[in-house]
Amino acid sequence: MLKTLVLMLLQAAYVFSCGTPAVQPNTGRVVNGEDAHPHSWPWQISLQVKHGSRYHHTCGGTLVGPRWVLTAGHCIWPGDVYRVVLGEHDMSQQEGTEQIIDILRIVVHPNWDINHVSDGNDLALLKLDKSPIMNDSVGIACLPQAGEILAHGAPCYITGWGNLYTHGPMPDKLQQALLPVVEHSVCSRSDWWGINVKSTMICAGGDIVSGCNGDSGGPLNCVGQDGRWYVQGVTSFVSSRVCNEVKKPTVFTRTSAFTEWLSEVMLKY
Ligand SMILES: *[C@@H]1O[C@H](CO)[C@@H](O)[C@H](O)[C@H]1NC(C)=O
Repeated sequence: MLKTLVLMLLQAAYVFSCGTPAVQPNTGRVVNGEDAHPHSWPWQISLQVKHGSRYHHTCGGTLVGPRWVLTAGHCIWPGDVYRVVLGEHDMSQQEGTEQIIDILRIVVHPNWDINHVSDGNDLALLKLDKSPIMNDSVGIACLPQAGEILAHGAPCYITGWGNLYTHGPMPDKLQQALLPVVEHSVCSRSDWWGINVKSTMICAGGDIVSGCNGDSGGPLNCVGQDGRWYVQGVTSFVSSRVCNEVKKPTVFTRTSAFTEWLSEVMLKY
């Protein structure tokens, strides 16, 4: 009873505050990757891992609650030390908008298994040591309704500091690319991803004109009918040969297949 009430309050709080960036993203139909408008995806974070005395960008992630970041399970290695940078745009500069926060707790999905990537469950939630200051450069993305399935061709955007092209350099500025959703019945065809793609995943892109941006753990951002931005996917895997191979869309963990696990973890810790 109390749990249900808390959950309703949590969701109500999100409904009024998530997915509405102060800076509008560029939603022109640019198919190749491009620099994002600075801070137009204010929930995008950089997950950084400690090597020696320094931290390096290793994965993307999404702020989904005042103290919660959603990323991929495969971004987390036991024993490594991580931190989260919010409000980032250009990695080569101190812009004054960055907020660097330590991680209090890491919860990897219990069924994630690095040896069975195609089984899915490639998710992790990171509880931040403290809540960032929410402002024009830091905000929360909305989580979708449980079980929501997007239509084939729905225009979503992948964002991240991932490579611009196969084996290319890492860009300094946050990149975005339009990646239309590929429905499961198409993505699971034998000449597409076949049995490697499960119904708990969502595919997008897979066209020679699609960008090759973003990186592991980062969001697939899709605008809802209410005009808010939802994190519908968490970047999980791409073709190992080239990043924009025909019939090999980028594969994401489908957030709407895990809403129960997500709210359970966020309530428990
Ligand atoms: C947001 O808050 C951070 C931390 O206090 C600050 O550095 C930044 O200037 C603020 N404003 C914007 C637009 O980022």
